[in-house]
Amino acid sequence: MLTVALLYGGRSGEHEVSLQSVRSIIRNLDRGRFRPLLIGIDKSGRWYLQPGTLIDEVRDGDAALSVISDQTKLIAIHPAAGFSVNGAYLPVDLVFPVLHGTFGEDGTVQGLLEMANLPYVGAGVLGSAVGMDKEISKRIWQAAGLPVTPSITVRRSQLATVSGKDIAGLSKRAQELFGYPLFVKPARAGSSVGVSCVDDRRQFIGAVQAALRFDTKLLIEPAISGQEIECSVIGNASVTAYAPGEIIPSHRFYDYDAKYRDPDGALLQIPARLTETEANEIRRIAAAAHQAIGVEGMSRVDFLVSQPERTIYINEINTIPGFTRISMFPRMCEAAGVPYAELLTTLIELGEQRYREEQSLTFDYSDSS
Ligand SMILES: Nc1ncnc2c1ncn2[C@@H]1O[C@H](COP(=O)(O)OP(=O)(O)O)[C@@H](O)[C@H]1O
Ligand SMILES: [Mg+2]
Repeated sequence: MLTVALLYGGRSGEHEVSLQSVRSIIRNLDRGRFRPLLIGIDKSGRWYLQPGTLIDEVRDGDAALSVISDQTKLIAIHPAAGFSVNGAYLPVDLVFPVLHGTFGEDGTVQGLLEMANLPYVGAGVLGSAVGMDKEISKRIWQAAGLPVTPSITVRRSQLATVSGKDIAGLSKRAQELFGYPLFVKPARAGSSVGVSCVDDRRQFIGAVQAALRFDTKLLIEPAISGQEIECSVIGNASVTAYAPGEIIPSHRFYDYDAKYRDPDGALLQIPARLTETEANEIRRIAAAAHQAIGVEGMSRVDFLVSQPERTIYINEINTIPGFTRISMFPRMCEAAGVPYAELLTTLIELGEQRYREEQSLTFDYSDSS
């Protein structure tokens, strides 16, 4: 029996999504092979061991999950020595970070787990950090010959102030390059937080100001009108891409409300409305995108397909995609014949495999000739 610590909650705006994701994971984890342990991170960023009874309540009942901040159950993490709780060593075989967005999906937690010498599920430090940054990931995909939505990057420091006057010059340049409508988005956020679609200069200025609340760097892109497609990718050195599926938002785009607030915000359709050739091409690009930025374990690669040209563009990658009952990532795998429980087992095995490979490396040059 392997003890798997499910790390959930967190400081990001996606705390609630994480609660939903981990709930589904508890319900689907193979009980014969894995013993789950819950480590909840509250919104202030502290880690707490959760009562074991919570697992049964969630597994067998309808209990909603939360993070209980019991000061006697505060978790400490030690360089090369894993976790302790209240001064006592806490044995854990592997960690499954079920955290979305900042401090979870961006390589920071992954670095902490590396230092603690704990195996974990999903992308490592590099793949996570690159995947989180929409500018850097696109640069690498472009260099690898993969198609990405055109964009310009703007740093906060390039603007004298964030007043309308200083942003107006930027709107002129973006309009000349791409024309309206335009998308403005933070380079490193998620859940559509700070993302706007704008039709004129006045809206553009407001959108830049909004995006800069969430990041010091933002992207401006032409609005690609057509279909929004997603594809699950699993694997370390060799990878498999599943589905793709399609998001059909009832809002202007797949904004925060469409994702989380409005139950009719979007239709999630598997398979996507694509020709066989297009679906194959998207799977090929998704697998290549996952590998190009050095992601391990899992990812969901999101695309935009323009209409009527039918040009395929990578929009972004998510290295810890949603795992809720209705999330696209597990559903696309399921549609391709990989049930949720089997998917979780595979992800855990991939995490162990990566750890074993890293353990076989030497970092000491002194006795090598
Ligand atoms: N260039 C674009 N053209 C059309 N729609 C876009 C574009 N960029 C983003 N969107 C829409 O905005 C949503 C959120 O943007 P995205 O880049 O995926 O950021 P996030 O990381 O917050 O999900 C997408 O799901 C899509 O609906
Ligand atoms: Mg997205």
